Amino acid sequence: MIKAFLFDLDGVIVETAIFHYQAWRKMANDLGFDISEEFNEGLKGVSRMDSLDLILKHGGVELSEDQKLELAAKKNEHYLSLVSKMTPDDILPGVQDFFKQIKQTDVKIGLGSVSKNAKMILEGVGLLDDFDAIIDGTKISKGKPDPEVFLKGAAELGFSQNECIVFEDAVAGVEAGKNAGMKVVGIGKAEILTKADIVLAGFEGLELAELLRQI
Ligand code: BG6
Ligand code: MG
Repeated sequence: MIKAFLFDLDGVIVETAIFHYQAWRKMANDLGFDISEEFNEGLKGVSRMDSLDLILKHGGVELSEDQKLELAAKKNEHYLSLVSKMTPDDILPGVQDFFKQIKQTDVKIGLGSVSKNAKMILEGVGLLDDFDAIIDGTKISKGKPDPEVFLKGAAELGFSQNECIVFEDAVAGVEAGKNAGMKVVGIGKAEILTKADIVLAGFEGLELAELLRQI
């Protein structure tokens, strides 16, 4: 019996990857190297400091912990200046209708995101009040693919793993959901999200009852 849906934020509810990319790319360019869009794909679902480490390694740059914290803070400032302009129009197609369908049932809605900016983004797009539980980067110590974020989501809602379904667009996020012992709906491409139980291109036209029958 499914009691809760746990949604990732970036790439599932809103598309922020482009803003992360712009902000990280500016930082890399300032350090004298570039990162491609393809490289950015590998940063999806990865925490801020882990992303920074991957980027610096890619550019062959070694820095002290203090310098890294400074760069991450500067990148985040730039990122926030980009996402602060988001409005309800930036919610991905079909998400609001799917939430409406969920709210007609007893199924709860939780957030499972490693982003420390999750609440601010949800507030900006007007979805903050739709969530019964929010687990974000401020509440966890291990990033995806560790299951912590989804296990905490289930615990906060008072349900067990097999009562929750995860919605994820990132490979690391799908793995986190599976590592939590949950069913995972991949949002994106089946050839990339190979470990998901079902993969959907997006939420548009999605029927809740039909999804529950399939999974
Ligand atoms: C994830 C994104 O949701 O959050 C990653 O997919 C990002 O790209 C991570 O690095 C951390 O986000 P933030 O907002 O805390 O820097
Ligand atoms: Mg994501």
